[in-house]
Amino acid sequence: MATLLKIDASAQLRERSHTHQLTELFTRTFLDAAPRTQVIERDVGQSPPPFVDHRFIHAAFTPPDKREPWMADVLATSDRLIDEIVAADVIVLGTPMYNYGIPATLKAWIDQVARIGRTFSFDLERGDFPIEPMLSGKRLVVLSSRGEFGFAPGGVRADRNMLDPAIAACAHYLGVDAATIATIAIEYQEFKDERHSASVDAARVRAVDLARQWAVI
Ligand SMILES: Cc1cc2nc3c(=O)[nH]c(=O)nc-3n(C[C@H](O)[C@H](O)[C@H](O)COP(=O)(O)O)c2cc1C
Repeated sequence: MATLLKIDASAQLRERSHTHQLTELFTRTFLDAAPRTQVIERDVGQSPPPFVDHRFIHAAFTPPDKREPWMADVLATSDRLIDEIVAADVIVLGTPMYNYGIPATLKAWIDQVARIGRTFSFDLERGDFPIEPMLSGKRLVVLSSRGEFGFAPGGVRADRNMLDPAIAACAHYLGVDAATIATIAIEYQEFKDERHSASVDAARVRAVDLARQWAVI
């Protein structure tokens, strides 16, 4: 039985969010093909995680056996969010492009789950690459939506795409090999023309196909 973690990052009302509609479609299709799947839902757009602060940093970098009682409270959200990733086989991430990057709420979530001793280890004995991920073997699909267009490699705005590289750079904290991330993007949302409708239709077809494929792995 697979566990699917569905993360939504749009600040928009759910019924108006393209990325939310895509994550719903992917999840429904996955469940149709694999009904025993356990689904965990985390909506960081509607319920943003807290930003990390000096108390979080102090607590996270204190070894567990040396932590003071207040530190457990400060790390409670981080622990809960990490537990959801640990449980997941498949991560479905719906994220808008905001100002060419990921929404601040999604960055807050990444900052909560990139945790020494839980999702990565750090050892200077490893030389110039001291960070090693602690999780592995998870699949990630990024379902995004953009108002403009041309953000794919080779596209007219590829150099402004700070969304996909930001997710790929942190994928190892999620137990995901960056080279295996599946990406499906709606474009042209701000133009509201036939190119947008075609982009939505194509994204929906690809999301359904991928969900059916991944449900039987
Ligand atoms: C605050 C904000 C910033 C945005 N910045 C960009 C941007 O930099 N580039 C772009 O192509 N679209 C941008 N958009 C358009 C969104 O990416 C687009 O509306 C997308 O459909 C939002 O996802 P959602 O429908 O799931 O809410 C922005 C929208 C908002 C609300």
